[in-house]
Amino acid sequence: MTNEMVLVLDYGGQYNQLIARRVREEHVYCEVHPYTLSLDEIRAKKPRGIILTGGPNSVYGPGALTSDRALFELGVPVLGICYGSQLMAQVLGGRVEAAPVSEYGRTEITVTASDSRLFTDVSPQTTGWMSHTDYIAALPPGFRITATTANCPIAAMEDAGRGLYAVQFHPEVLHTVEGKKMLRQFVRGICGCAGDWRMDSFVETTVAALRQKIGDGRVLCALSGGVDSSVAAVLLSKAIGKQLTCVFVDHGLLRKNEGDEVAAVFGEDGPYDLNFVRVDASQRFYEKLRGVTDPEKKRKIIGEEFIRVFEAEAKKIGRVDFLAQGTIYPDVIESGLGKSAVIKSHHNVGGLPDHVDFKEIVEPLRLLFKDEVREAGRALGIPEHLVRRQPFPGPGLGIRIIGEVTEEKIKIVQDADAIYREEIAKAGADKDLGQYFAALTNMRSVGVMGDGRTYDYAIALRAVLTSDFMTADSARLPWDVLQTAANRIVNEVKGVNRVLYDCTSKPPATIEFE
Ligand code: XMP
Repeated sequence: MTNEMVLVLDYGGQYNQLIARRVREEHVYCEVHPYTLSLDEIRAKKPRGIILTGGPNSVYGPGALTSDRALFELGVPVLGICYGSQLMAQVLGGRVEAAPVSEYGRTEITVTASDSRLFTDVSPQTTGWMSHTDYIAALPPGFRITATTANCPIAAMEDAGRGLYAVQFHPEVLHTVEGKKMLRQFVRGICGCAGDWRMDSFVETTVAALRQKIGDGRVLCALSGGVDSSVAAVLLSKAIGKQLTCVFVDHGLLRKNEGDEVAAVFGEDGPYDLNFVRVDASQRFYEKLRGVTDPEKKRKIIGEEFIRVFEAEAKKIGRVDFLAQGTIYPDVIESGLGKSAVIKSHHNVGGLPDHVDFKEIVEPLRLLFKDEVREAGRALGIPEHLVRRQPFPGPGLGIRIIGEVTEEKIKIVQDADAIYREEIAKAGADKDLGQYFAALTNMRSVGVMGDGRTYDYAIALRAVLTSDFMTADSARLPWDVLQTAANRIVNEVKGVNRVLYDCTSKPPATIEFE
């Protein structure tokens, strides 16, 4: 396995894991540690490069997060980003002060030193993402300016002889158009990393770390069959085998055949060494949902009931030392750093079981982004249909049936959704879609089938393009695909006589219907 490592020292910036992710994209192993990591600890890690992140503080203010001057004298290349660049300037004898004009957002950058290694192959005029109120007002001795902007005379500086580089902008965010190139240049060119790290290595190191952490402890994992919990479960099963029990709660609000598909992969006949418990709790959920039409009430009931079922199963299992979760990095950000371990337990359904005693939570995917989780899933040999699965909300079809949930309606929406997904897959239209599904409106309308009048439900089809699920555009699906799906749904699904396509974006609509 590779022993090339780039160390990211965290000064509290919002994009820190994104920096790590960009380094991993260059196939170099990367660790993020708090800025307080001691020099001895840093030396022991033998990093090939160090990146100092951005952060919300002022380097000259009270309570500034600092660094030891010796950090810059280790003989290891250092790249300071935003706060990190100012820190480098301040510690090495430059001057940092409040900028007369703050810069936020996309900013034109002029590369003034075309021979700078950091900017190899970068255009002389390029766009960077800025977010700062302080700036470097005077260079430290030995440095030269390598880039400027209209309001920031030292947008980048370097002392190449000592391997010290600093940029005021954020190369890690995609708005910095040539940022990837710059980070590649730092990691590969300046630090000299060969870039032989692969997701397999993540799997190997994580499995080893899980083994060490868990020892002979028992682990309980709530498995939804979604990508994140599936990958977490397989990693754990590789690490600790039968010490792991996965509980899959089937709330009866899953997509067509989904329960069986999950059981086929993780159950006794599947390839993994773990204990798998499938709980068919559908009747329990249907009873609780009877007569309930308010979306929020429905969500609450489903979330709470899920926890109760899960708890009951955990009790049967007895001793549980660790609770495992498929929390991924975007979940950590959403729930606020630090507290995330507690808040995000069962983020998929909301809430953490109160009455399950466990020592600790294990979250092996905590530092990965969704596409990296999929890559890890592939490295683990998880079937492609699971790895590529689109997100499915914890409350399931409960929030895709407008109004009261009944077994009849569940069957309708399951069948319509299966047809829709099949047609989209057949046409190869699924590649770019963020999410696509059928929902059941609670509208009935008049139709004519054969020679008779019908008075049946309308199905709504939705397909959205999105990368972050916070905003979304409705997808322009080929008309043929929609029409074929609509025809099949009306012909094959009893109780439906009309199919509508939802062409609203988010906002103002949401992706789900409730
Ligand atoms: P909305 O409908 O808010 O959905 O635009 C945004 C994304 O979140 C998913 N979603 C959920 N996921 N539990 C989840 O795990 C939930 O309660 C939930 N509600 C919505 C939705 O599928 C979409 O991907």
